[in-house]
Amino acid sequence: MELNLAGKTAVVTGGARGIGLSVARALAAEGMNVALLDLLDGVGAAADRIAQDFGVRAYGQRLDVTDQDATNAAFDAVRDELGTPQVLLTAAGIEINGDSIDVAASDWRKVIDVNLTGTFFASQAFGRGLLQAGLPGSAILIASMSGLIVNVPQWAASYNSSKAAVAHLAKSLAVEWAKSDIRVNAMSPGYVLTDLTRQIIEREPELEADWVSLIPQGRMATPEDLTGLVVFLASDASRYITGQQLVIDGGYTAV
Ligand SMILES: NC(=O)c1ccc[n+]([C@@H]2O[C@H](COP(=O)([O-])OP(=O)(O)OC[C@H]3O[C@@H](n4cnc5c(N)ncnc54)[C@H](O)[C@@H]3O)[C@@H](O)[C@H]2O)c1
Repeated sequence: MELNLAGKTAVVTGGARGIGLSVARALAAEGMNVALLDLLDGVGAAADRIAQDFGVRAYGQRLDVTDQDATNAAFDAVRDELGTPQVLLTAAGIEINGDSIDVAASDWRKVIDVNLTGTFFASQAFGRGLLQAGLPGSAILIASMSGLIVNVPQWAASYNSSKAAVAHLAKSLAVEWAKSDIRVNAMSPGYVLTDLTRQIIEREPELEADWVSLIPQGRMATPEDLTGLVVFLASDASRYITGQQLVIDGGYTAV
């Protein structure tokens, strides 16, 4: 079956490193032009490397996805540089761990703002561009198995709640936009070794063994373990899949 991705444009929020960057590189390997939007300064250099490595066009821009106007402007800039994006991966996300009793309002709001509201703003700008252009598209919103189960032994009620909401956001947009040929799905990974999890493990090294002991496949994922699913969801091979949450966790939630 034809994936039908080559020559189209993908936007990856949080694309400067980690899961977002790995997926952006996998989409470029399929011939997609990619735009990376991220808070980090290195976002332009990451895009340049993709262009060099895969011979596609790539664009990088600094963006805080919690800023709606800036997000709309960034999608306009991507459209002007690379054409209307037809694939979206929202990978911008943060986690703040702590006992719920002690969580400060500012930390709670920050997690919800980046993980849920930022994901909505990016999806909104993506959907608007497609509706205006009359084009089909596929959005993959990164949620987490943490939206389905409660991770132990570290606590992160704000993160878990934000990810459950992202999965329902994907469903909501999928139904709203289905008639316009815009698909929206959530991808929910288990533990993936990235800077996000590395920072948690560095603070509490014993956590890694705790986590791995609960994963039937016996290891954390690498970001590359997730790329096949995203390429599939982005492509025409999944053209009748929308409004779903696909869990990719080495069996964690099956136990
Ligand atoms: N690593 C895991 O185990 C795991 C598991 C399930 C889900 N996830 C989710 O996958 C996504 C990617 O995580 P990762 O593990 O690659 O982490 P990461 O920290 O390596 O990457 C996240 C990226 O998002 C960017 N970002 C953060 N806030 C932003 C903002 N306001 N605006 C724009 N960019 C912003 C960061 O600069 C970073 O480049 C996150 O949504 C995360 O919650 C990760």
